[in-house]
Amino acid sequence: MKPTEILRKEHEDIKIMLNIFERLVFKLEASEGASLEHVELALNYLELYVGKCHFGKEEELFFPALEKIGIPKDGGPLGAMIQDHDSCRSNMKEMRMWFEKYKAGDHTVANNIVKPGHKYVITLKTHFDTEANILFPMADKGLPAGKQDELVIKFGQYEITKIGAGTHETLHQSLAQLKSIYLV
Ligand SMILES: [Fe+2]
Repeated sequence: MKPTEILRKEHEDIKIMLNIFERLVFKLEASEGASLEHVELALNYLELYVGKCHFGKEEELFFPALEKIGIPKDGGPLGAMIQDHDSCRSNMKEMRMWFEKYKAGDHTVANNIVKPGHKYVITLKTHFDTEANILFPMADKGLPAGKQDELVIKFGQYEITKIGAGTHETLHQSLAQLKSIYLV
């Protein structure tokens, strides 16, 4: 098992959530009204599983290992990847702020969620493609086998210490639940 295989699997799960989230954003855009419960589940997933777990693993464990084998950070591919993460986090912060107002009954703010929502989805999908096609092959080739094994172990521990095994399980259940509603 390679660390990039774990990250690729996470990308696949997250892409499913992005497709679900995109549908919810389109509903808001069309003033169809989106289920508050479903938007809440999707935002929680994106904030915790993506923003904390997935980005965190890359920023705290994976990217530093790549830097050590000579892949440049500032002005290089790692810096660009971190910029995407920051852009997604800032879009997410904005969406969360407006969604709290929407939830409180002010439906006039729906469009304020739509713009960062589309931006978030586009940024992350493009970002995943860049990682999968450029960065991960570089990691597979350049990281020593021992370091790859170590990263796999640390990735496993990371989720548990960062959000807890129970929360992790709940987020996977949210994905399965929303998938059965929106992607059938
Ligand atoms: Fe990333």
